[in-house]
Amino acid sequence: MGTVKKFENPAALFDGAAKFILQLAQQAGPKFSISLAGGTTPRALYERMAAPDMRGSFPWEKMHFFFGDERCVPHEDPRSNYRMARESMLGPAAVPAGNVHPVNTSTASAAASAQDYAGDLEKFFGKDLPRFDLILLGLGEDGHTASLFPGDPALLENKKWTAPAKVETPEPRVTLTYPVINNADNVMFLVSGESKKKILSEVLPGNSNYPSGKIKPSSGSLYWFIS
Ligand code: 6PG
Repeated sequence: MGTVKKFENPAALFDGAAKFILQLAQQAGPKFSISLAGGTTPRALYERMAAPDMRGSFPWEKMHFFFGDERCVPHEDPRSNYRMARESMLGPAAVPAGNVHPVNTSTASAAASAQDYAGDLEKFFGKDLPRFDLILLGLGEDGHTASLFPGDPALLENKKWTAPAKVETPEPRVTLTYPVINNADNVMFLVSGESKKKILSEVLPGNSNYPSGKIKPSSGSLYWFIS
């Protein structure tokens, strides 16, 4: 279940979420590792974080940005989660390039990109299971999160840190797996809009069979920021 923070409207949600992330980042040690969610919902959060009245408060130089999942399209493709994050936050906040760790999508396959991404995670976290300070997640209407979709073999991956999505998706995708997500210090779902009300009512109580229902940090904290 975790901690539910319900906001009156999307603007309040993104402002509250940005301030929450700011607090975590300021309290963190010399590095703050954050995995970004993709899709459409988080764009407004990233814009809020990089807004002129808030941008100056973030310790960008110690924040390292990874991605919870990525579509295997060129980084300039409008579907790219990296492009969305770069346009809405990483660019406007002038985050140092060395602090941004996109999934390499110019490989031969999603499996190759997943393997390459696991290598990037190891370069940053070392050989032990990555422990992100914060992982942001969205919620699909089918109960998926990141690119962990219902019925996907990636749901059963309990060793590898990344996996290619194997079920039919609009484009090939790479995702973090449960071992990494559930090892995070903080996991934060960001869910907004009428279209998500039904799935939220089924997932929020906990123990649902949806992929998002299996997000249970082993020792970290789970938060639901909703509006
Ligand atoms: C993606 C996301 C995905 C997203 C949900 C919700 O790459 O699409 O990682 O898991 O968070 O599909 O998407 P919306 O925020 O667009 O509703």
